[in-house]
Amino acid sequence: MARVLQWWSHSKTVALIWFVSAIVFYTLFQMALRNSNSASSGRYYAFIPSLPFGSRENFVEFDLALMNFDFADSLVSSEVRRSKLYDGMARDLDEKGAAFLKQGETSQSLSLSDIFTLKDGSVEPVLKAANPPVRANVLYLSTEYSVPISETVKRIVNPYFDKSIWFQNSSLYHFSMFHASHHITPVPATEDEIEAEVNAVRATSKTLCPLNIVLDRVVLTSTGVLLGCWQVTSGTDPVTIRAKLRTALPRAPEKQLYDAAILHTSFARLLGQPKASAMDSHNSDLVQFFHELVARLNMELRGFRAVVSELWYVEEYDVLALALNGRMKVRRFQLGCPTN
Ligand SMILES: *[C@@H]1O[C@H](CO)[C@@H](O)[C@H](O)[C@H]1NC(C)=O
Repeated sequence: MARVLQWWSHSKTVALIWFVSAIVFYTLFQMALRNSNSASSGRYYAFIPSLPFGSRENFVEFDLALMNFDFADSLVSSEVRRSKLYDGMARDLDEKGAAFLKQGETSQSLSLSDIFTLKDGSVEPVLKAANPPVRANVLYLSTEYSVPISETVKRIVNPYFDKSIWFQNSSLYHFSMFHASHHITPVPATEDEIEAEVNAVRATSKTLCPLNIVLDRVVLTSTGVLLGCWQVTSGTDPVTIRAKLRTALPRAPEKQLYDAAILHTSFARLLGQPKASAMDSHNSDLVQFFHELVARLNMELRGFRAVVSELWYVEEYDVLALALNGRMKVRRFQLGCPTN
């Protein structure tokens, strides 16, 4: 009997200790979670475009709606964070369908009629002055890598589309990093202030190491943008690059356009229906057709490796100058990667 009593009191003590430990652990965990959330919130959060589809503004923010993730920065590695972003972007076409075909179609079947026109049978961008000019910091992908990618994309995609496609200029493949001023929160600057920004970005570039990157996947968004989504195998992570640029450019808009971890470049923009002949074998199931197209691109491009070693400070005098071959002024900086 005494034994049983002893055993009973022992188990109660053990249970009590477990219970108290569980409460302490849970409380600390919640506190850690709250801290990391408040540290990251308000810095780089996604924002949902409220502008009408097909406007210039939406063209640049095509993917922002997909980035509405609530990450606790310190709890997730940049690599995992990128993977989750890319998963979400890949799901977008399934969830929303091919929105770029449904809205604002013109008689020439160009859905983005205020950005592009058909001239002598070919698609041309309609350029519009940016006032004040947008000041973007982008990583540059050299033509050593962009030209083979661009050729592969054209070879696979071109047979299915007549004129209703716009290809990113392969001399201007870039990864958008951080804006000193953008169209949503313009930050006007004098020439002196611009020179000060240029010097700050130059100094920052010296502290960054070239990035070895690998193409994780090609994604087609519901707004018709064909994107390359990349992972980083070595070099300075985009999260660090953006943080350093924020420090170097204290006047920059608090709200940036992209998630802090993303590393993406746009390859092309689909502007309308694929040719009728392309659809014959797909029972007119557009989403299925696009899935197969993206699968073919992935088969050839997934795993493509590149090295990024230049940071550009770009003044875009036309809206979307980098995307539409508009007027711009570019300052190029080699990533210095200090060795010590
Ligand atoms: C592509 O960009 C390069 C470099 O800015 C430029 O020289 C070339 O004219 C552009 N191509 C087109 C078709 O605009």
